[in-house]
Amino acid sequence: MKIIVIGKSGQLAWELSQLSSVKHEIVCLGRKDINLNELLSVSETLKIHKAEAIINASAYTAVDKAESDIDNAYELNAKAVGHLAQACKLLSLPLVHISTDFVFHGDKGAPYLPNDEINPLGVYGASKAEGEQLITDIHPSNSAIIRTSWVYSAHGNNFVKTMLNLMNTKPELGIISDQIGSPTYAKGLAEACILALENKLVGIHHYTDTGVASWFDFAVAIQSIGFDLGLLDKKIPIKPISTSQYPTPAERPHYSVLDKSSLVNALPELSFVHWQTQLQTMMKALKADQS
Ligand SMILES: NC(=O)c1ccc[n+]([C@@H]2O[C@H](COP(=O)([O-])OP(=O)(O)OC[C@H]3O[C@@H](n4cnc5c(N)ncnc54)[C@H](OP(=O)(O)O)[C@@H]3O)[C@@H](O)[C@H]2O)c1
Repeated sequence: MKIIVIGKSGQLAWELSQLSSVKHEIVCLGRKDINLNELLSVSETLKIHKAEAIINASAYTAVDKAESDIDNAYELNAKAVGHLAQACKLLSLPLVHISTDFVFHGDKGAPYLPNDEINPLGVYGASKAEGEQLITDIHPSNSAIIRTSWVYSAHGNNFVKTMLNLMNTKPELGIISDQIGSPTYAKGLAEACILALENKLVGIHHYTDTGVASWFDFAVAIQSIGFDLGLLDKKIPIKPISTSQYPTPAERPHYSVLDKSSLVNALPELSFVHWQTQLQTMMKALKADQS
């Protein structure tokens, strides 16, 4: 299969590019290669590349900036997604699209199921929710939406790399302990996207690594593994703080653990790994990149 991935320089796109093989040719397109603002340009570009399947890994992911940059967030997370869905429908192409736990409010108190009511707290979540709806309306029979959370990779910007930088430069850290979710290594998410295409997955599903954590738990694990691997030469005190002690422009869900059972059933070959194991694997890759 020739798979076109949209969002060339992002974390997920990079992990997908590493999965290119004899079985699947994976070509990543960046904003210079495809104009997502124009439907005609999207369909022409997909035709030129002889696409057989599409994975949309592009998004406006700056959650706080989106609160004041509303038009641009909707342009990419909703309108562009609509264009991709229309182009895929026109060309009869399967589409895998990635969405987010931030479509949920966070007050359920139990893992969210794919069909649970959505109620985003901010512009990022609302714009991603509109993108989901467009795909469901336009191209339901040949598309899958995979919601995920707290994504990181050795390539790109993310919480793990931010923490390592802060741990190397600050005397101590206060990290939020009252927001609960599931960290997700983008490498596993990339494998889920490929299996979704191979199995003609349709509908909305959830994929994260297993286990749950607060940002504080996540930071403590990053420091412990980072120190053991020699990515950090000392440990600093990390104290738990509440969301109210760290105000941000965008409100975030307090609890956004995603129930993965529909994907466990639909893709039996897909492995689900605990976030602490995945974190070790990613940080070893980071260490290998540095040496
Ligand atoms: N990161 C997370 O914690 C998280 C959590 C839940 C869900 N997700 C979802 O997972 C997916 C992958 O996230 P990620 O972390 O890999 O994202 P990322 O690293 O922020 O990458 C996003 C990509 O979108 C591209 N992009 C932005 N504007 C574009 C435009 N106008 N045209 C084409 N491409 C454009 C970016 O290109 P430039 O580099 O050129 O800007 C970048 O390559 C997204 O759908 C995201 O919403 C992420």
